[in-house]
Amino acid sequence: MYSVRMRAEKDGLHLSGAEGIFGAKDVQGAASAMVERAMRLKTRPGGIYLSIEPIPLKPKMISALPVSTVKSASVADARSAAEVFLKDAGISSRAIRAALAAIRPPAMRGAALLCAETGRRLDTSKKRGVRASVFGITPGAQKTLQKKLAGCGITHRRAFEAMLLAAKVASCPFILAEFCVSDDPEYATGYVSSRKNGYVRIENLKPKKSPEGGRAFFLEKDAPVEAVIDYLEREPVIISRAGRMRGEICPL
Ligand code: COA
Repeated sequence: MYSVRMRAEKDGLHLSGAEGIFGAKDVQGAASAMVERAMRLKTRPGGIYLSIEPIPLKPKMISALPVSTVKSASVADARSAAEVFLKDAGISSRAIRAALAAIRPPAMRGAALLCAETGRRLDTSKKRGVRASVFGITPGAQKTLQKKLAGCGITHRRAFEAMLLAAKVASCPFILAEFCVSDDPEYATGYVSSRKNGYVRIENLKPKKSPEGGRAFFLEKDAPVEAVIDYLEREPVIISRAGRMRGEICPL
């Protein structure tokens, strides 16, 4: 199997990325679909970088998380809903404040690793953060998940891709939760995800047209940080089952 990854940039700024894990016969089609996607971006990329690497380990097979949505009317309501789900996953108020500080511009290239108890930043690469990568979905699970999501009115590709990333992150035993706000000014829906409550989409997590955004992964106290980073950045993971759709929910 191969990890196929694409990133597009212009003048050193990241425009878009895509990735998946494919068998040999599907590599060429996947790579060409990714290049096509980059060429269709609103901004014509300066460079498109394609990586195709064999996967030495047998990928770990996991399920996607169950999906639910909080329809919040204001940013304040959305932030308190995020807080409720983060606290329920075992994240302290201090760590939540640290995550909110980490999503202010300029956006990091990856996620901040935070101690779920103290809020202390655990990765040492301040501007880069840690990127979850080397994951994919089987064609069958992709079809089922996209169909289920469409049945709930969720058709944004960004949401689908974020769900795959969140599934890999949640499959790391030392990570209690993830908090994400997209840095796309046109997309204000973010999420809190955890093994406990699944993938909880939260509308209006930031003001309209705001460029702020970012990700935080909350680690159990005394988690082996290097092993967690290695898992997130390098261990191949394939989503082989779609999660349940729980529909609209209210904060607990
Ligand atoms: N955001 C900003 N910059 C990024 C980036 C991202 N998501 N991914 C890569 N870059 C830039 C960085 O400058 C990076 O240098 P750094 O490692 O010092 O930060 C450089 O590209 C090379 O990164 P690398 O990890 O070697 O790229 P890659 O070819 O392995 O591609 C992606 C990685 C783009 C596929 C992966 O990061 C990604 O975004 N995957 C898509 C997963 C997804 O669904 N993402 C949703 C938003 S994160």
